[in-house]
Amino acid sequence: MDKSTPIKVLSIFGTRPEAIKMAPLVKALQAEPGIDAIVCATGQHRQMLAQVLDLFDIRADRNLDVMVPDQTLNGLSSRLFAEIDQLLADTRPDRVLVHGDTTTAMVAALAAFHRRIPVGHVEAGLRTHDLNQPWPEEMNRRTIDVVSDLMFAPTEQSRRNLEAENLQGRVLVTGNTVIDALQMTVARIDGDAALRRRLDGELPALDPARKLLLVTGHRRENFGEGFRQICRALAKLAQRDDLQIVYPVHLNPNVRGPVMQELSGLRHLHLIEPLDYFQFVRLMQQAHVILTDSGGVQEEAPALGKPVLVMRDVTERPEAVAAGTVKLVGTDMGRIVDTVATLQSEQALWKSFARKHNPYGDGHACQRIVDAILGREFHAFAA
Ligand code: UD1
Ligand code: UDP
Repeated sequence: MDKSTPIKVLSIFGTRPEAIKMAPLVKALQAEPGIDAIVCATGQHRQMLAQVLDLFDIRADRNLDVMVPDQTLNGLSSRLFAEIDQLLADTRPDRVLVHGDTTTAMVAALAAFHRRIPVGHVEAGLRTHDLNQPWPEEMNRRTIDVVSDLMFAPTEQSRRNLEAENLQGRVLVTGNTVIDALQMTVARIDGDAALRRRLDGELPALDPARKLLLVTGHRRENFGEGFRQICRALAKLAQRDDLQIVYPVHLNPNVRGPVMQELSGLRHLHLIEPLDYFQFVRLMQQAHVILTDSGGVQEEAPALGKPVLVMRDVTERPEAVAAGTVKLVGTDMGRIVDTVATLQSEQALWKSFARKHNPYGDGHACQRIVDAILGREFHAFAA
């Protein structure tokens, strides 16, 4: 290709976490004269995606609007295949970028592969080695790596996972772009007292006499019994006189149904709508402990020095578990209640969890990815 012709890079994403983690990369791609950056929002999520795009001021060139309420994985995949194939035919990109392990990312990668368009996988190489946890994400991320020629691994561990699979593409250790997004957001919040006042006014009024337990949950493998146990644990924890719980409830009806039914109206437990990223980061800053099954929160909280209890049996993000700031607690009611209680009562233990550290990135992941795409000299991330 003529060196003066910009490389046409099409970023495709569709859910809240993908948008948060791709937002700083989209900005970095748009700032490069050597890149013609195009953005497609698939709309796998509707409101939760729009929230992120508005906040980061990203205008998608194409919106596919594929979400339907309580969508099935096959229904979603078939709508995505049809729409993304047409998008690729219309835009003819030189490269497609996808992020992580969602259905959007998996279908976009396969659709590009079918048209022989090179695929770059941002956040490559995360593995639990168990196809059922997280489900279906472990399959999605493995499939994407098989068809990617550039794999942007966030950590050394994820690089090792990829090398063990003898894949064909090139692996580059970049750090996770979530740390770029988090650092940008924290700098905005910390540097702007008026913004902090506005955010605090939008969030539930916190009782200074009680410690904040911040909760999120949405994993498909926890639907049913898992969520029932989680709700019972939260109902029990809400009875403690040293705790207040804030839980922004995911819009998935399989989450909202049981959560609203079991937990509405409890004192010291605030069920609220999904927060925008500024509001959520502000709340993480104020949390004493975070209880979650989210992937992104497991990466952000250590950077903020916040202890995380993960309501899963395995994680593809083992670095902070090894460092002792994240602990897996599964979804058993008794175990969740007991672990939170122990962190409340044992100050030294809480302190050992509440250490700021950054195994997942240094805030320069996006620049490294841009450098790799443009074939510039590459300096890997080292934790
Ligand atoms: C998806 C991803 C998961 C990711 C999560 C982040 C897959 C298979 N799952 O799970 O990897 O961790 O997003 O949150 O890709 N809904 C709305 N409005 C929204 C978003 C969701 O109403 O803005 C409801 C709809 O009824 C929708 C349902 O939630 O059908 C499920 O959304 P979907 O994206 O299929 O799954 P998530 O559980 O959100
Ligand atoms: N998040 C947010 N608002 C919320 C809850 C979470 O902005 O109410 C952010 C959070 O900081 C993280 C991302 O959303 O960056 C995680 O998304 P989610 O838990 O939906 O998906 P996962 O990370 O598990 O794929």
